[in-house]
Amino acid sequence: MLLQIAQVLPPTLLEQCLSLAQTGAQFVDGKQTAGWHAKERKNNLQARPDVALKAVFAQVEKALLGHQLVNAAARPKAIVRLLLSRYQAGMSYGTHVDDAIMSGQRTDLSFTLFLNAPEQYEGGSLVIDEPAGERAFKMEPGSMLLYPSTSLHRVEPVTSGERLVIVGWIRSLVRDAQEREILFDLERIIAAQRAKQAADDPALELLLKTRSNLLRKWAED
Ligand code: NI
Repeated sequence: MLLQIAQVLPPTLLEQCLSLAQTGAQFVDGKQTAGWHAKERKNNLQARPDVALKAVFAQVEKALLGHQLVNAAARPKAIVRLLLSRYQAGMSYGTHVDDAIMSGQRTDLSFTLFLNAPEQYEGGSLVIDEPAGERAFKMEPGSMLLYPSTSLHRVEPVTSGERLVIVGWIRSLVRDAQEREILFDLERIIAAQRAKQAADDPALELLLKTRSNLLRKWAED
């Protein structure tokens, strides 16, 4: 399941991220954080994790973990890693799959958080290879695409302007993508039922029981 989530970052935090991406951070070759295969395909810049960046990342992590939709879709146990990336004209990231383990933790979901407007650069779409075909994404600032780390994906060459994003990985309490999707669907049904029915509806109680018991069955804490 691919999920586009709007307005994940509050405006002030988005501003802080943007200002680091544009002027505040020191950038190094992105190959430094890629696995051996991805290294050959990765051509971008990444911010060196200094004190200012770490402080902003702590806030981004908090925003992600506190976001209702992110929680419902990803069931995060931890944010494994965050990177601030910059693609200038001519830069791209060829087709690859993300590392399964980072810093000793399994990566279940990947995400790209878009920092600047799609009009500010040409090219630079994030393309996800799905069974039904490829899908390309360029999203509004502060929005993110959440997708299973099992997917092949790439970033198309930026032909002009600059693409600024935060990419990251989530270790989920629920390893299996299908199980996460079932739980996510249940969460949406519960929200819809809650919106139109009294809280003491017995069918809603059963739905809540099912959601909790599936989570109990599938979660690895
Ligand atoms: Ni990747």
